[in-house]
Amino acid sequence: MNDKNPLWASESFWKKVAIWVTASSFLLLVILTFDSLSQTKVGSQRVQPYSVINKKIDYVYKPELYKSIPVIGGDELLFGQAFTEKEAEALVTLGKKTTQAKNCMNCHTLLGNGAYFAPDLTKAWLDKSWLSTALREELMVKFLLDPEKNARTFGSNRKMPNLHITPEEARGIVAFLKWMSSIDTNGFPYHFNTINATEE
Ligand code: HEC
Repeated sequence: MNDKNPLWASESFWKKVAIWVTASSFLLLVILTFDSLSQTKVGSQRVQPYSVINKKIDYVYKPELYKSIPVIGGDELLFGQAFTEKEAEALVTLGKKTTQAKNCMNCHTLLGNGAYFAPDLTKAWLDKSWLSTALREELMVKFLLDPEKNARTFGSNRKMPNLHITPEEARGIVAFLKWMSSIDTNGFPYHFNTINATEE
């Protein structure tokens, strides 16, 4: 190497740059990982505690933010029962584990992840097609126990197969879907008209 070479033309300079870029990217990744973990933790600002299943949940469009945000209201019990945080966690966890065991993501998306054969389930609890908030829980359980007989295909040919879910698992899934609908997903899914919007 001759002395007149500028700094940026030397091999050792680029080796140092490579080491610094790699090290600082790694550090950034670690920081972002911890940041994501704190933001996705149950009970954090965006993710409600499990006992939110005792509350009325809505998803309201805010023109000033150009997106919908979850709005948690007063009491609206699920299956007529007031769950403690622990009981709610157990039921929601049963629902979540059932969705994993039955591989619902093979057809559906949850929080946008999964397959695109069937509707996204993130706000399924708030879907208008459950007709009314009074009928919703019963209809959801009935549908999950026998989706073939209670098909909601609305003219499309897609049908959900019977996944042989037990009544308790179906209740768990409903609790899981209710809890998930309260998560602040930064506006996803967009332009979602909730069941409450039709009632008021
Ligand atoms: C083989 C594909 C498939 C699998 C697996 C599947 N579904 Fe479905 N699901 C569908 C289709 C298709 C529809 C829409 C047709 C209908 O509603 O009858 C649907 C509709 C639904 C709806 C109604 C959504 C709405 O807002 O109207 C819910 C809730 C639901 N599925 C939950 C589940 C859960 C929970 C699981 C796992 C335990 C699951 N599905 C597994 C295909 C599937």
